[in-house]
Amino acid sequence: VRSIVCRPDGGAALAGNRVRAGGWVKTGREQGKGSFAFLEVNDGSCPANLQVIVDAGVADLSTLVQTGTCVLVEGLLKMPPEGTKQKIELRVDKVLHVGPTDPASYPIPKTKLSLEFLRDHIHLRPRTNTISAVARIRNALAFATHSFFQEHGFLYVHTPIITTSDCEGAGEMFQATTLISEAEKLDKELIMNPPPTEADIEAAKCTVGEKRWRKEPKLKPGIPKKDGKIDYGQDFFGRQAFLTVSGQLQVETYACAVSSVYTFGPTFRAEHSHTSRHLAEFWMVEPEIAFADLQDDMNCAEAYVKYMCQWLLNKCFDDMELMAKLYDKGCIDRLRMVSSTPFERITYTEAVQLLEEAVRGGKEFEKNVEWGIDLASEHERYLTEDIFKKPVIVYNYPKGIKAFYMRLNDDSKTVAAMDILVPKVGELIGGSQREERYEVIQQRIAEMGLPLEPYEWYLDLRRYGTVKHCGFGLGFERMILFATGIDNIRDVIPFPRYPGRADL
Ligand code: 4AD
Ligand code: MG
Repeated sequence: VRSIVCRPDGGAALAGNRVRAGGWVKTGREQGKGSFAFLEVNDGSCPANLQVIVDAGVADLSTLVQTGTCVLVEGLLKMPPEGTKQKIELRVDKVLHVGPTDPASYPIPKTKLSLEFLRDHIHLRPRTNTISAVARIRNALAFATHSFFQEHGFLYVHTPIITTSDCEGAGEMFQATTLISEAEKLDKELIMNPPPTEADIEAAKCTVGEKRWRKEPKLKPGIPKKDGKIDYGQDFFGRQAFLTVSGQLQVETYACAVSSVYTFGPTFRAEHSHTSRHLAEFWMVEPEIAFADLQDDMNCAEAYVKYMCQWLLNKCFDDMELMAKLYDKGCIDRLRMVSSTPFERITYTEAVQLLEEAVRGGKEFEKNVEWGIDLASEHERYLTEDIFKKPVIVYNYPKGIKAFYMRLNDDSKTVAAMDILVPKVGELIGGSQREERYEVIQQRIAEMGLPLEPYEWYLDLRRYGTVKHCGFGLGFERMILFATGIDNIRDVIPFPRYPGRADL
């Protein structure tokens, strides 16, 4: 379908050709007292539909016209009569496949459905205009990401999903455990707990286990937890492992060896945030640059965001027009503004002063504003939507609210961190210059009450050939929210995971 209708001429140059097209019927109706059917067919490759005419006798028209029916058809492409507004049409003489849909039970009829409703039909929602457009925009942004970093000489490094390090130190990690059968479990427990005596069996009135207790244990001992029970995840990895919250610490090892690198993969956070900006599983783009400081970090992040906005304007304009029509009138202008306007840059201290001024002027925030607080989403949005009306980079945050790895500034109160805040979303990027001084980082780890041992490898990067370096993380779904104007992050990832939802 794309090769026919998604061309600047709407397919006019192809008129007169025989073509084959497959897709799903968006709308269909029988016309001319049942002598032919008129279908709008879409294959998800672009927002536009192909107009298809099928004469009675070529196929069963009443099946073809149902929304959701899959068709593969062949015929002649025809331009409609001159002077009419109609688009190019495919006059079908051969139907190669029909995948019928029962309209009585199909959950995705042609009426406009709410995104919330569609979340309960995750497996069918890619059939809708919105979700397929979001999928194309997401694909384009992933391509733009690789294109940007590859053009600038960055090496793509695959960092692990399973890890023992909590990069952000926020204790929001999902634990990795192994799934084992009941029988295996019994064998393993046997190793840790000696077989019971006759009296024990009697006491437990246990009959099923008797045979098993006489069996020789097959498996190596597990590592007992304090309470004597076995932790099966620990048993597998030799220590407790988790799903990663960020690839940063690992990608730093490559930055401190091959200079400019990035990782781009899924990350996991067990935050109980039921908000429209948080997911339990989201994708993060994390570049890391050696021989670079906080200024370089901000410059790189700003250039990258601008590049993505320009990319969408160049490559996804038709999908962006759909977003403008359905969700956010201003989204195209916003992309233009962001790609051409320098971002505002203010220190955290200046940001707090601006917010305090706003409070004095009568603005009410739910969370009290004072130096030292972690800015809440309402503060971030006020700065970027009401004060500056463009992206704002806030830097030099109080050390108390940031992670251990950020470089301590000379004032000993703030760290060289930066967040990029954008309209509609708030925090899009979090980054920092990393603490490269061995003594300082060691002290910071101790100060924050973290154990040194798990970070020994990280300290080695400072012990041997240390280098000034920096990096940031961009929340990929938040970038999609920002670009499209869609309100809820659950609608811009194919299979959203959030508290209470991990199916499919
Ligand atoms: O600010 P964060 O926590 O920074 C880091 O993880 C650093 N290790 C990144 C780095 O320096 N390499 O997360 C980075 C970004 C946030 O700005 C936000 O856009 C996104 O990740 N993010 C989330 N997106 C969706 N759901 C969540 N629960 C998110 N948590 C963070
Ligand atoms: Mg952050």
